[in-house]
Amino acid sequence: MKTLTDLPLSGKRVLIRADLNVPLDESFTITDDNRIQQFLPTLKYVIEQGGKAVVMSHFGDGNGKFDKAFSLKPVADHLTKLLGKEVRLAPDCIGPEVEQLTKSLAAGEVLLLENSRFHTGEKENDAQFAAALAKNGEVFIQDAFATAHRKHASMVGVPKLFKEKAPGFLMQKEMEYYEKSLIKPKPPLCVILGGSKVSTKLNALLHLVTKADKLIIGGAMANTFLAAQGLQMGRSLVERELFPKALEILGMAARRDCKLYLPVDFIVAPSPSAKGLGRPVPAPEVPADMMALDIGPASVLLFREVLHNAETIIWNGPMGAFENEDYAKGTTDMIEALASAHGMTVVGGGDTDAAIHKMELDHKFDYISTGGGAFLALLEGKGLPGFAALEN
Ligand code: 3PG
Repeated sequence: MKTLTDLPLSGKRVLIRADLNVPLDESFTITDDNRIQQFLPTLKYVIEQGGKAVVMSHFGDGNGKFDKAFSLKPVADHLTKLLGKEVRLAPDCIGPEVEQLTKSLAAGEVLLLENSRFHTGEKENDAQFAAALAKNGEVFIQDAFATAHRKHASMVGVPKLFKEKAPGFLMQKEMEYYEKSLIKPKPPLCVILGGSKVSTKLNALLHLVTKADKLIIGGAMANTFLAAQGLQMGRSLVERELFPKALEILGMAARRDCKLYLPVDFIVAPSPSAKGLGRPVPAPEVPADMMALDIGPASVLLFREVLHNAETIIWNGPMGAFENEDYAKGTTDMIEALASAHGMTVVGGGDTDAAIHKMELDHKFDYISTGGGAFLALLEGKGLPGFAALEN
């Protein structure tokens, strides 16, 4: 696979797939521009090399037709501000008019194509749609790590049509940290998995138990593991149908000498929306009418101790129902623990990374991934089709 610096860019129309899928508020203002910021080094490099940058991305789920609410216009305006030069938004991502716009670009100019998911061909990985997208460039750069788990036209169909192609700087950095943290980690490797459901992380758990030296399970997911071992979890979220899988994972961990840690206490309250009612209880004493909504202070102490000698730490998923700040302390305490940990720290995108940015502790982490689903796919041991498509 070539690298970005190997590609001939000067005077070429450089088609770049980025993931500019950022959150907006009701007034269409970007509330977290991290993904755009992380993409800037690639874009600036293309401009500096005298390339004509044609950027494409999806935005939101998309249902195959134009929808103003999912236009990339706010992103074009934001890029214009960040670059200090105009980034025009094309009216579509394919077609003769768009192709003409790409051909009229001068060296160093940037054109953003409209949301690729306005066409059904994107998610269907339609060959004709991919060919129409590919007409917008002579060289291809794949920088959309956060979408690399999707077999969509712009992710896998388009790169196959290019001879000159390479990962962008963001994609390269993401894959380097994946390699350093999960493929060839400096041991001991400690993985922390949180979130509400075992079902969404089951494949990751089954894979990680074969990779990690230590596995910490937090969030409501931990309830299922404790309940499967006979603890009464009151009204807490528990996935009974996954008891056999939870016991299988505990057995695998024991056989492989992967040390598995579960919370030893919880903050309990009547509901996730209850305010000012949370109190700590030991894990075996969750009252019948209460829900476990966060890990408690003893669990934080235990998990800190577990992290103490870890050389590599990977974290994905919150420790509790942290949208309500009454149940956010377990997650924020763990963020602080990781921020001061001695080992290399890699965090998966999504909820946890937003919390880290909010606490302004991002500079204390070795790497914070821009991927949610893509990061999870790597934790599951799956390859990324959007990255594999760059191989000739
Ligand atoms: C994400 O936000 O995780 C990526 O942009 C991928 O989006 P998707 O889950 O809608 O494919």
